[in-house]
Amino acid sequence: MSESTLWRCTFSGVRGSQVSQEMLDECAQLFSANYGVWSPDVSAPLKPGEFTAPMTPAKLRSECFTDPDATFLALCRIGSDIVGYAFATVWEYEVGKNICWITQLVVSSQYRRQNIATLLLTPVPPIPCHAFGIASSHPGAVAALTSAVGICPLRKVDLNFIRDTASRILATTPVPYLRAAQSRGLRGALFGNNKADGGVCSIFTDFFVDHEEPRAALEIWENVQDMKWPLGKLAAGHEYLCIVPVQT
Ligand SMILES: CC(C)(COP(=O)(O)OP(=O)(O)OC[C@H]1O[C@@H](n2cnc3c(N)ncnc32)[C@H](O)[C@@H]1OP(=O)(O)O)[C@@H](O)C(=O)NCCC(=O)NCCS
Repeated sequence: MSESTLWRCTFSGVRGSQVSQEMLDECAQLFSANYGVWSPDVSAPLKPGEFTAPMTPAKLRSECFTDPDATFLALCRIGSDIVGYAFATVWEYEVGKNICWITQLVVSSQYRRQNIATLLLTPVPPIPCHAFGIASSHPGAVAALTSAVGICPLRKVDLNFIRDTASRILATTPVPYLRAAQSRGLRGALFGNNKADGGVCSIFTDFFVDHEEPRAALEIWENVQDMKWPLGKLAAGHEYLCIVPVQT
């Protein structure tokens, strides 16, 4: 992170039950103005190129607050303004094993590529977790998660761990959009399907956000890291699926 941004950022963590209406309002506004735009594949009334939102506090509640005691919000503020946030939900996917799933992650387009997402995902949730997971069309979100849990670069991501745990984790999730996605299926060579389109590890979430910016980010990421993106190509309406065990 650049010095000038670093000294202005304040990070904090809030349990779901303590998230105020004001925080929800601000997060919904940040999402609406910064998340992304619809892809060319959407049909009316959605319009390609228009913002995917508006997000509302009520929608945030229904998507991210299935159980407030198992929900966490990490915030990054500059002054009093929220410039980045992450929602996470924790659940038990196997006896004695919890997963912490990043259900939403957004950083203001003004402050990207300064490690804010990585730092938002770094605090350990107050419930012990065996693994962390994310479904995202943006390689930066996946890279932020793996860096936050200490796997950097992504070449060390254990694809076998994803293959062996994904179905169980998704079958037990209380998160509505993941439950719906699970029934549509895991996609890519790792799961023995859709090999021809170059996919390795993704999930069909039916979320048709435009992939142009994430594609450009992926190209930069591959050049900087001098390696191929390990999760393969991303088809429309899909998101990369990444699950990483906590390093002990
Ligand atoms: C994805 C997003 C959260 C990343 O936030 P950020 O604060 O810029 O991320 P960071 O600076 O912590 O970067 C994390 C990693 O991704 C890389 N990265 C992030 N954005 C990148 C870009 N546009 N191009 C190339 N690399 C990028 C960083 O270099 C870093 O890599 P490293 O861990 O190997 O060093 C932000 O771009 C965003 O809000 N996008 C729109 C919403 C979205 O797609 N959210 C994810 C859905 S869950």
